[in-house]
Amino acid sequence: MRVGVLTGGGDCPGLNAVIRAVTKSLINHGQCEVLGIADGFEGLMDEKPRVKPLSWDEVSGILHIGGTILGTSNSANPLRDAATLEQVARNVKDLSLDVVVAIGGDGTMSLAHGLAQVGLQCVGVPKTIDNDIANCERSFGFDTAVTTVTESLRRIESTAMSHHRVMIVEAMGRHAGWLALESGIAGAADIILLPEIDYDLQAIVDFCKAREERQRYTIICIGEGAKESGQSLTVRERIEHSPDPVRLGGVAHVLRERLQPHLRSEVRATVLGHVQRGGDPTPFDRVLATQFGHHAAQLVLNGKFGHMVTLQNGRIGSVEIAKVANTQRTVPLDSPLLTMARDIGICFGEV
Ligand code: F6P
Repeated sequence: MRVGVLTGGGDCPGLNAVIRAVTKSLINHGQCEVLGIADGFEGLMDEKPRVKPLSWDEVSGILHIGGTILGTSNSANPLRDAATLEQVARNVKDLSLDVVVAIGGDGTMSLAHGLAQVGLQCVGVPKTIDNDIANCERSFGFDTAVTTVTESLRRIESTAMSHHRVMIVEAMGRHAGWLALESGIAGAADIILLPEIDYDLQAIVDFCKAREERQRYTIICIGEGAKESGQSLTVRERIEHSPDPVRLGGVAHVLRERLQPHLRSEVRATVLGHVQRGGDPTPFDRVLATQFGHHAAQLVLNGKFGHMVTLQNGRIGSVEIAKVANTQRTVPLDSPLLTMARDIGICFGEV
């Protein structure tokens, strides 16, 4: 069997661990040849496909390395027009690819789903630091990102204490607040603002003022998709709609401007950005990514094409890609983590 492997969408720590586990499992099984496809589906869209055989040696020594040895692409869309689609179909035929293991987020899964309709069979492996893929309670990369944000919050706290400041730290996560929530709890944030709960400025002002009297510093961890109540667009959406996106700061800067006039303490904002996506995966992510890669290989060997690896109730399994394409998993408002955090006094900016 000829199996292609690609990584699509934004990168994330643990991708190499998946590539290694898929490849080694298939090679060990025998009768499988593995081809690495460069830069996501883009590698199949050119007249001359960008592929290379993945040998045992090729995938050795990469378990712990961040990023992806295959490269990735955010914008490649093999479904964009009929000509591109035909090119992909030709390449798949010429390469005699039986199936492609597509490691990616919701975008990649939607493409994998669309390509099945033109004969390209895929097995999906969910990846994202946002932890927002349906049917997957933990995606690899998330633990590493939480570790990075948590460490950053600790660093910010020492300078916040020294200067008696309000420090706002912006975490990624797109429309889901998992990263801000778990990092905020682990990093002892006083206020956590999530895309799932619109925040009330006055509630934040009151909370910070009370702390000005006692602790004299406040740490706010804000998810990039969070927005003030009454605003129709998140900052991210405003940036996407702006003719001059560079002039808009992140959501942390917007909140800083809104908050500063009401407080005695100085307010500072830090946008952590892509530092959250880079770096080597934590041991937890290395194990999870290896499990996901191994399971993807089992799906391939069992002919369970059109399925994506899942983690539900602590067990690795699979679900039809069709069921997860174009869906997202945000923080439920009745999440026990939210209740716990409220109970220990963390403020979510609610009225
Ligand atoms: O989906 C992962 C993610 O890192 C989001 O958290 C973030 O909004 C986005 O990707 C950033 O994408 P880009 O690297 O294209 O700026």
